[in-house]
Amino acid sequence: MLKIGVMASGGGSNFKAIIDRIGEGDLEAQCKFLITNNAGCGAVGHAQTYGIPVYHISGKTHPEQAAYEAALLEVIDKYGVDLLILAGYMKVLPVSILKRLPDRVLNIHPSLLPKYGGRGFYGIHVHEAVIAAKDKESGPTVHLVSEEVDAGRILGQRKVPVLENDTPAELAARVLVQEHDLFWRVIKEYGEQVLKARV
Ligand code: GAR
Repeated sequence: MLKIGVMASGGGSNFKAIIDRIGEGDLEAQCKFLITNNAGCGAVGHAQTYGIPVYHISGKTHPEQAAYEAALLEVIDKYGVDLLILAGYMKVLPVSILKRLPDRVLNIHPSLLPKYGGRGFYGIHVHEAVIAAKDKESGPTVHLVSEEVDAGRILGQRKVPVLENDTPAELAARVLVQEHDLFWRVIKEYGEQVLKARV
């Protein structure tokens, strides 16, 4: 059975969509932990509802970079997960984590990468930029996380129209609906490849 760990910072709707699909039996996986940098975020509430262990690890809990990275690695090693899922995680992951899990960290980003990716492009800022550029379409991307921010191999993408007079919040909501349906499917497909490669 595929073992995943999730990292999230915010409302946690992507995290919830994934654990709902696990609960429904659509995604055969176990979610072993939630790591968050924000103890008060919505994702924590979802984890508690499902009995998933929560670890709060951030620059506040671990002001020294080495201790911060060691704390992240300790959780990841403890559970031996096949995939680490960044579901609305707003921090750049340390390289030591990527080295521990090469090609095993997936992120969801709310734009059609390679457009509107990289440092500074996250959350609502992405949708503001898409609207300012008068793009006609947008949509989420699921990709492997590499050292260069938002530049790893693309595993899945969905397109939605950008409507005239869309506000960033309206566009974000349209993209988010697709995120919820895309992410678990990519985790399923990529996870099957990972498990096959292991035997
Ligand atoms: C999602 O739109 C996700 O794509 C985005 O943050 C939102 C989190 O929503 N992620 C990024 O911008 C990462 N660069 P959620 O907390 O409800 O899942």
